[in-house]
Amino acid sequence: MSKKEKTVYQCSNCQDTFIAWMGQCPSCKSWNSFEEKTGIKTKGTTSSHKDPVSITAEEAQPVKRVHTRIEEFDRLLGGGFVPGSVTLLGGEPGIGKSTLLLEIASCGKNILYISGEESNQQIIDRAHRIDAMHPNLYLLQETAIENILSAIRKTKPELVMIDSIQTVSTDSEKMFAGSVTQIRGAASLFVEIARELSIPIILTGHITKDGQIAGPKVMEHAVDVVLYFETQNYGQYRFIRSVKNRYGSTGEIAVFEMTPEGLKEVSADKSLIHLDDIGGNGSILFPQLDGTRVLPVEVQVLVTPASFANGRRIGENIDISRIHMIAAILEKFMGFSMSQSDIFVRIQGGTYMRDPAADLALLIATASSYLNKPVPPKLSAAGELSLTGIIRNPSHLDLRKKTIHALGIKKIIWGGEKNINKSTSEDPFYNNIKECLKAILT
Ligand code: TYD
Ligand code: MG
Repeated sequence: MSKKEKTVYQCSNCQDTFIAWMGQCPSCKSWNSFEEKTGIKTKGTTSSHKDPVSITAEEAQPVKRVHTRIEEFDRLLGGGFVPGSVTLLGGEPGIGKSTLLLEIASCGKNILYISGEESNQQIIDRAHRIDAMHPNLYLLQETAIENILSAIRKTKPELVMIDSIQTVSTDSEKMFAGSVTQIRGAASLFVEIARELSIPIILTGHITKDGQIAGPKVMEHAVDVVLYFETQNYGQYRFIRSVKNRYGSTGEIAVFEMTPEGLKEVSADKSLIHLDDIGGNGSILFPQLDGTRVLPVEVQVLVTPASFANGRRIGENIDISRIHMIAAILEKFMGFSMSQSDIFVRIQGGTYMRDPAADLALLIATASSYLNKPVPPKLSAAGELSLTGIIRNPSHLDLRKKTIHALGIKKIIWGGEKNINKSTSEDPFYNNIKECLKAILT
């Protein structure tokens, strides 16, 4: 079959091709960037083709993963780096990407650390400070992709680190490093060499505060694993979340603490908050589930008479619509005048609150502040609320209970199906919010 060649339109910004002219590029959203091109191959057939093979025709090869000495990180990857894979580690500037790379680099494996951001001396200084010096760690200060690729071919390390994707550029494209075209081009070259040499590559990428970047997002589809650094109010804790993983589960998080000696793992049995301070007016402990980790967090609520005609709702680390819902439930089923109240909610000690089981803790803390009745200390709550005023089972109740009880918290209030665990548990159970609030806030 002959090659299909016809007029196409190419975006001068992202190089994507389309069969019709458009004012705005659907891929990179830039305006008036289309140029008419002839002779570019559209996605037709090519002369060299491969025959399909049956899925059972080839034996699955056992994968020997590259382990770092950081357990939390290995767990996040699904058991270490897969040879030939490319991992993107994104995050705001200053959050700890380079620090984490260096921590991983001290694992003793043969590692090539390519930095376009810092001088070798700066990296050495940091490595001394965080105790990451190792003779198998090789540094290369380079930004030209051609030179980076030849260094990888020459040294054939066990793991390659590139800090950062925004600083690398190729000579053949006369464009600035960090542009969409450069990042896409660089990403595909790194994927190619990783596959060819069966070496894992980890790349860092800067994202801005609102997460919108003309950067790492454009290469997410090309890489195998995408990890993003998060922090809460710039505290000392750092959460790394896997948003894509071709070799493990996504939505998983690893928890680290930034110390003067670098990033330290935070094991699952450690709480990120002072448990003794929790309880009292508008405060309750909630076992937040994120990935497969339970993070005990404090739900703080302050309810005051409204300063304007309509009550304000302010949320920190939580979606404001959830506060509206809790207020509506309390107004409807408890008769509280929430529309005449300002409500401030803060989630302390965990990640952004996406866990629906926080409803019950939010309800109790809001009612406690409104009624000025303290929540007893050493008490926790987990449960989802239905809009009919019924409390439903939280997911993974056993895991939440186990974590909370291990921290010395005696009771976890929960709701849902009565028969689940009821006979064996001493934890208070309610499925009706009226009953629940009456029993706790006396
Ligand atoms: P860095 O890894 O350079 O961030 P990124 O590569 O994401 O831009 O981290 C820099 C921040 O971390 C900087 O503000 C200082 C702090 N830090 C520590 O608190 N302790 C340490 O041991 C190190 C190395 C950095
Ligand atoms: Mg850095």
